Amino acid sequence: MVKITYVTHDGAENEVDVPVDMTIMEGAIQNGVDGIEAVCGGNCYCGTCRIYITDQWLEMLAPAQEEELAMIEASGEEDPNARLACQIPVTEALDGIRVTTPEFQK
Ligand code: FES
Repeated sequence: MVKITYVTHDGAENEVDVPVDMTIMEGAIQNGVDGIEAVCGGNCYCGTCRIYITDQWLEMLAPAQEEELAMIEASGEEDPNARLACQIPVTEALDGIRVTTPEFQK
């Protein structure tokens, strides 16, 4: 299990344990975490699993693939630290990661 802390736009924190075979999005949904909608169920098609990751953790992730980058751009997102949680597999290396969710996702 990997500890992930989901932080809402207003600072509320929710730390949960997520199995390594899930994505960061699935970890939020399974644990009833607010702030990630995931309307398309993880198919990189809706952009409603958006999260913001600090530079420190961002460097530990595989770079976003073309499909993810296109969806983020289509969403009008300009923050370079934005990622789609459904495209990030949970690994042991991410133990302790903190991700922030945007205000427009409930
Ligand atoms: S769940 Fe739809 S893009 Fe991630």
